[in-house]
Amino acid sequence: MNDKLGNWVRSHRCGNLTAEHIGQEVCVMGWVQRRRDHGGLIFIDLRDREGIVQLALDPDRDLASHKKAEQIRSEFVIAARGKVSPRPEGTVNSKMKTGEVEIEITELLLLNRSETLPFMLDEFSEVAENIRLKYRFLDLRRTKLQQNLLMRHLVAKTVRNYFDDNGFIEIETPVLTKSTPEGARDYLVPSRVNTGNFFALPQSPQLFKQLLMVSGFDRYFQIVKCFRDEDLRADRQPEFTQIDCELSFVNRSQIMDIMEGMIGEVFKQAIGTEVQLPLPRLSYAEAMDRFGVDNPDLRFGMELIDITKNVAGSQFKVFASVAASGGLVKALNAKGCATFSRKDLDDLTDFAKIYGAKGLAWVKVTEDGWQSPIAKFFTADELAEMNKALSAEVGDLLLFMADTPRIANEALGRLRGHLGQKLGLAKKDDYKFVWVTDFPLLEWDEEQRRHVAVHHPFTAPLEEDFDLLETEPGKARAQAYDIVLNGSEIGGGSIRIHDQGIQSKMFELLGIEAEEAREKFGFLLDALSFGAPPHGGIAFGLDRLMMILTGSDSIRDVIAFPKTQKASCLLSEAPNEVDEKQLQELGIRLRSKQK
Ligand code: AMO
Ligand code: AMP
Repeated sequence: MNDKLGNWVRSHRCGNLTAEHIGQEVCVMGWVQRRRDHGGLIFIDLRDREGIVQLALDPDRDLASHKKAEQIRSEFVIAARGKVSPRPEGTVNSKMKTGEVEIEITELLLLNRSETLPFMLDEFSEVAENIRLKYRFLDLRRTKLQQNLLMRHLVAKTVRNYFDDNGFIEIETPVLTKSTPEGARDYLVPSRVNTGNFFALPQSPQLFKQLLMVSGFDRYFQIVKCFRDEDLRADRQPEFTQIDCELSFVNRSQIMDIMEGMIGEVFKQAIGTEVQLPLPRLSYAEAMDRFGVDNPDLRFGMELIDITKNVAGSQFKVFASVAASGGLVKALNAKGCATFSRKDLDDLTDFAKIYGAKGLAWVKVTEDGWQSPIAKFFTADELAEMNKALSAEVGDLLLFMADTPRIANEALGRLRGHLGQKLGLAKKDDYKFVWVTDFPLLEWDEEQRRHVAVHHPFTAPLEEDFDLLETEPGKARAQAYDIVLNGSEIGGGSIRIHDQGIQSKMFELLGIEAEEAREKFGFLLDALSFGAPPHGGIAFGLDRLMMILTGSDSIRDVIAFPKTQKASCLLSEAPNEVDEKQLQELGIRLRSKQK
């Protein structure tokens, strides 16, 4: 039998007791992290969400509680009363917040027992993630995960306060809705009432937040779940959370300023870091040129250098032919890496190949010049020019990529990010933000043989590129912006089209027939014809932001109940099969079950 809580009242959380409380009678409740029996004395480390405090049980002080403590095991739930006292000389633990004190227990309740856990909760034991996720309610008892979720709460609260202070209101938008334009696959929900019809779960509240602007709400935000059925990665979940915003009567710069203020406040409150504002801005073209990717990690240099002109006339046919066919030859200088082994270089080449590279040429800069399979193809002048362009010094490793602009940029750009990690240049507690602006409005989709929107079809073109829509739509840039932190896209948004005529033109460019546009987005098109104000917005990925704030490598470590890489929940075992009766009501027959 366990003891009853009765009228016991908790006075403090375990982890909050410090030297300040010495002399006070307190009552704490929580889980037993560890029990140590020192012959006469028993010590219990008691844990709650704020941390751990030491309880001291002395049979001479209270025999009953000492006896009870003898039966106590890890993860039992107990309540204890006693006096906060300084720890005896030599037993102070300076690593713990509560390390100067212990509670001299005078009364103890055993509130519940626990089976032996399927895994240890301390930070040292490596537990397979599928076990952790199956017993997520236990996994969440770990200090690190508790801290992550407490910080997530603090961030959400800071965001709400900031937006409230700046005239935004939080409005909920539907979860059972229609396909939205973000371009991933939808999660569908069958309708029983309208048999044969389906809702789509929103990939974002994009259309509804625009409607709210048409309705005159002026400044909206929402901390909101979004759903995308896409291939999962370390920083992607099928359901994730956005900090979603939309504003009327503002331009791009004003939106960026307001959002920077929010970021500054979040970093100050969550981790005590002052973010230097305003944040730097880079055009998409410059980001691609200098870093090869649209989400550059600015914690380190190692920029890509375009050497196409230097090698166009060279004897190295691989480079010369790429230059002649309109491709790019780019290089980077991995400072001091001439010591890389053959295997290191092969690994880098294999990494580049993931992104479509055909090869990776390397050069070790030595006292005697270039040591490289490709050195022999270049004249002394060509070598000197390339050394200059790359600021090469003895001991450096130069890496070269020749390909179509798309592959050369992406493969070398990703390799740069990989090297930054490998060489320890990307420090977790260094926070480098950058806005990337002026994205192309459209990109050519070879498979569909038509243009598709880079951001989404409601993004406005740059005013100075309007005329290009008629002549060279592929060259038009968008009033879009992404915010990138340490190489991760933590948010993205744009100024929207608020003119129905331009919106129709946009659909035409995208090869979306008027009829299809009406069917998909008719309500938005209607809204635009009834006095839509100029408006724009942005959405931040809260989970990604939390990964960086908490220094987590996996997005699952900042979500209470995440999905696996295979988009399933090991805890609840969703998704699962359903009763035949439920399917019948929905008018659904499964093909796999048909005879
Ligand atoms: P976008 O599609 O860029 O924009 O999404 C905004 C931000 O959400 C995060 N994100 C994700 N996080 C975790 N898992 C995912 N599967 C996932 N997908 C996206 C990213 C991203 O920057 N409606 C527009 C915003 C707007 O225009 O206002 C939108 O959804 O951090
Ligand atoms: P090869 O003459 O094909 O043996 O190539 C010589 C070196 O150039 C090897 O180190 C290849 O990895 C490298 N290489 C081949 N193709 C490319 C390319 N497109 N870009 C950069 N390096 C390449």
